Amino acid sequence: MGPVTHEAGTLEPDAVRSMFDRIAPAYDAMNRVMTVGLDQRWRRLAVEFVVQPGDRVLDACCGTGDLALEAERQGGQVIGLDFSERMLERARSKSQTVEWLQGDLLALPFEDGSFDAATVGFGVRNVADLELGLRELRRVLRPGGRLAILEITQPRGRLKPFFGLWFDRVVPVLGKVIPGGRAYAYLPASVRRFPGAEDLAVKLERAGFAAVRFKLLAGTIVALHTGTAS
Ligand SMILES: C[S@@+](CC[C@H](N)C(=O)[O-])C[C@H]1O[C@@H](n2cnc3c(N)ncnc32)[C@H](O)[C@@H]1O
Repeated sequence: MGPVTHEAGTLEPDAVRSMFDRIAPAYDAMNRVMTVGLDQRWRRLAVEFVVQPGDRVLDACCGTGDLALEAERQGGQVIGLDFSERMLERARSKSQTVEWLQGDLLALPFEDGSFDAATVGFGVRNVADLELGLRELRRVLRPGGRLAILEITQPRGRLKPFFGLWFDRVVPVLGKVIPGGRAYAYLPASVRRFPGAEDLAVKLERAGFAAVRFKLLAGTIVALHTGTAS
């Protein structure tokens, strides 16, 4: 394993948790600014792929809760789980019908096969053991249960230079003016060391998901992976 620093895009779990605790007050606003308001559309799309009315849904790494809220709007009975208490505080203020739980994706506090669907938005890039996280998601889904993962991915094609500029120059500067700003040095670095979309699809298959597909959004900077627990 390489260096464990914000700039290397790799941090110990406690450091990830305290980073999100610190940026919680600014998190939603930063999302809207950094994605020019597109982030909510990606969450809606992810949920439309995997959640059906009446489904029991786990939104892991729920943060301030926006993906869990979309899953509820789609008719799911939703549990949102995150290990950052400050992020969960924000989520709790948005809904009293979603069940918000503090917990770790790497040791999910649920029986095998408890959920019809699971979602993770911009969370799996931060976990210390990606393969274990994917196996945990598989374990808590019933056979045939559906998973959607939204994650920032390394851009490709003609838009790559534009995103390089946005991500490596503009985002870290934005990060300097908000609390916990080092998170925005961690963000592009963590995208760079995270598996590309094809590799993440292979990892999902190895973790026990079938019919794995991915769709690149926002000019290839965001990947939406879906799969079915086999
Ligand atoms: C970038 S935020 C994403 C929040 C939300 N899903 C969204 O769509 O905006 C990542 C979240 O993952 C959480 N997280 C990271 N590793 C975790 C783990 N091992 N277990 C639970 N939550 C984790 C962080 O606390 C943080 O709230």
